[in-house]
Amino acid sequence: MTAEYQVHGTVAVITLNNPPVNGLGLATRTAAVKGIQQALADDAVKAIVITGAGKAFSGGADIKEFNSPKALTEPSLHTLIATAESSTKPVVAAIHTVCMGGGLELSLGCHYRVAMPGAQIALPEVKLGLLPGAGGTQRLPRVLGLEMALNMIVSGTPVLSDKLAGTALFDQVFAADADLVSSAVAFAEKIADARPLPKVRDRKVDYPNHEAFLQFSRNTVKAMSGPFPAPLECVETVAASVTMKFEDGMKFERERFLHLIQTTESKALRHAFFAERVASKVPDVPADTPTRAIKQAAVIGAGTMGGGIAMNFLNAGIPVVMLETKQEALDKGLATIRKNYENTMKKGKLTQEKFDQRMALVSGTLAYEDIGQADIVVEAVFEDMGVKETVFRKLDEVMKPGAILASNTSTLDLNQIAGFTKRPQDVIGTHFFSPANVMKLLEIVRGAQTGKDVLATALALSKKLKKTGVVSGVCDGFIGNRMIEQYSRQAGFLLEEGALPEQVDKAVEKFGFAMGPFRMGDLAGNDIGWAIRKRRYVEKPEISYSRTADLLCEMGRFGQKTGAGWYDYKAGDRKAYSNEQVNAMIVQHSADIGVARRKISDQEIVERLVYSMVNEAAHILEEGIALRASDIDMVYLTGYGFPLFRGGPMFYADTVGLPNVLAAINKYALGHQGGAWKPAPLLVKLAEEGKGFNS
Ligand code: NAI
Repeated sequence: MTAEYQVHGTVAVITLNNPPVNGLGLATRTAAVKGIQQALADDAVKAIVITGAGKAFSGGADIKEFNSPKALTEPSLHTLIATAESSTKPVVAAIHTVCMGGGLELSLGCHYRVAMPGAQIALPEVKLGLLPGAGGTQRLPRVLGLEMALNMIVSGTPVLSDKLAGTALFDQVFAADADLVSSAVAFAEKIADARPLPKVRDRKVDYPNHEAFLQFSRNTVKAMSGPFPAPLECVETVAASVTMKFEDGMKFERERFLHLIQTTESKALRHAFFAERVASKVPDVPADTPTRAIKQAAVIGAGTMGGGIAMNFLNAGIPVVMLETKQEALDKGLATIRKNYENTMKKGKLTQEKFDQRMALVSGTLAYEDIGQADIVVEAVFEDMGVKETVFRKLDEVMKPGAILASNTSTLDLNQIAGFTKRPQDVIGTHFFSPANVMKLLEIVRGAQTGKDVLATALALSKKLKKTGVVSGVCDGFIGNRMIEQYSRQAGFLLEEGALPEQVDKAVEKFGFAMGPFRMGDLAGNDIGWAIRKRRYVEKPEISYSRTADLLCEMGRFGQKTGAGWYDYKAGDRKAYSNEQVNAMIVQHSADIGVARRKISDQEIVERLVYSMVNEAAHILEEGIALRASDIDMVYLTGYGFPLFRGGPMFYADTVGLPNVLAAINKYALGHQGGAWKPAPLLVKLAEEGKGFNS
């Protein structure tokens, strides 16, 4: 049973019971409909209460049924709502904690709604690129009025039930110490004989001059929703609650819902929603794997990354000791943390009290002895194997048994690092992204000997730190940077063949990336890539790169930090201004290497940048570095600004069709630096089989 049925005197109580949030899956819907029918058939029952067990009234559709035929199997959500609404005995929704999506739509089909204060009320469908498809767009405006309902439906943001007390949504909001079920039963007894039964559908949405308001809403929402069609569709369907009869509005809502569910944007959002949930699942590390307690952390290196990493722990209430080699560097690192929090406070996003709490949790030291008792230590020192070796040998000496030794390395061999200790099972990579206190992504690098409990702890920690943890195997660059390397190489080759930085950046930004490769390089610092390439020229001479980025660095143009990179920058302004000298250097370089410059289309730019990553990702998947294609999408959506509406590189490749991607790759293999294009065997195989990465 996923809904329980009990009779309290003359009132039947149906309790939805489908943990964790009483999702309205097929079994729950069936049991709820049966419950109503049973109550109708029982002469002793005068009224019906529907409530939810545990932590919710109902969170809405059962996400396990998404994209499955079960979602449409009768009794559908529409049928359940219609059963409640057409009941000849009054039905009361007794709401608490969470009432969202289909849950709220169900309550709107009930004759009465009573609630506990503090319940989260929302129609969040828009966040998955959809609109409420079970009457929410037609009924919510009828109880909350046009303006408030529109705001809730377009934003998907929850509103607390006590804020909605006094609206027609709730007949009563109980006191915080009330017992919901007995209060709801008492309410039901009181209204048991009242007729006619009130129905939300019979109400009218009154809004004088609604057309002006709707037009204003259309304009605002259109400007704010970018490539996503759902918010505007929400406006149109809510508009129908004013301009159409209820039945026609319902038909219109259905039609627009069925349209949205087919859009790539909605599919991409739903893909990302599931990808995020599945990323924390590792096949050989079951959910019940024991984890180690993390009550105290240490961070080695108080530079760019160390400071940001420490802030993550502080934000989660975990004390941090920072260790540096020199007092000066330590002071600077601690001052940066303080400054960051002060800025957040100035923006009104942090209270003085929280600020004080967080700063009280951080301390600094120059002595390893002071960090020995930490449960986890994250190393964020220079990207140099020699320095890492010194640090890890020392950590092995001083850290208590069972402490997790994590490295933030972005490229170095984690297995080699683990080999510097006598406890490789405790060593793991936690690759944060810059700025580490902001970026959602955490690549969790699993070494050959990393313990399962250590991996499970890192995954649990990523949740605690509000990060999206994605597991990667050990390879140069892990998932994200290994792919971006191919993207950067193509960006360089495009310059050699005829493009200029501005054209490349514009094309990529038009595709939806927050920033093109050259503006990104200027932001991160072109010297970082330069240092990596210099190492590669020695270690991997077989890999070709465009020399343009080296020539740029030789001009001293490291990016925003030097006021000049691919572009010029003015103080206090992040806008990029193209620079004649840089462009002349690029054109001259083409002549020097004997490449006749040609006009390159934006389509070619995007294809070469994105497909080069997709091809590398196919290798990553095949080698088992990533567990699944959707993990790669998560890395790119949360760490690299890949446009969300395109669902990540692998999802995007699937929408283009892998045979098309492969054909383009084969074409580019015949062009300039064609050697960079060797189709990955997995890509070829899937294309031949007519499959996608994600299916
Ligand atoms: P950074 O140069 O800003 O900071 C490194 C800090 O480590 C300096 O403050 C230095 O004094 C300190 N340090 C050096 N040797 C030490 C030792 N033996 N003991 C204690 N402290 C020591 O470098 P950044 O950018 O913070 O990078 C740190 C690590 O994070 C590197 O492995 C890097 O590859 C990785 N990383 C960097 C990212 C970035 O965007 N900067 C992104 C992701 C990872």
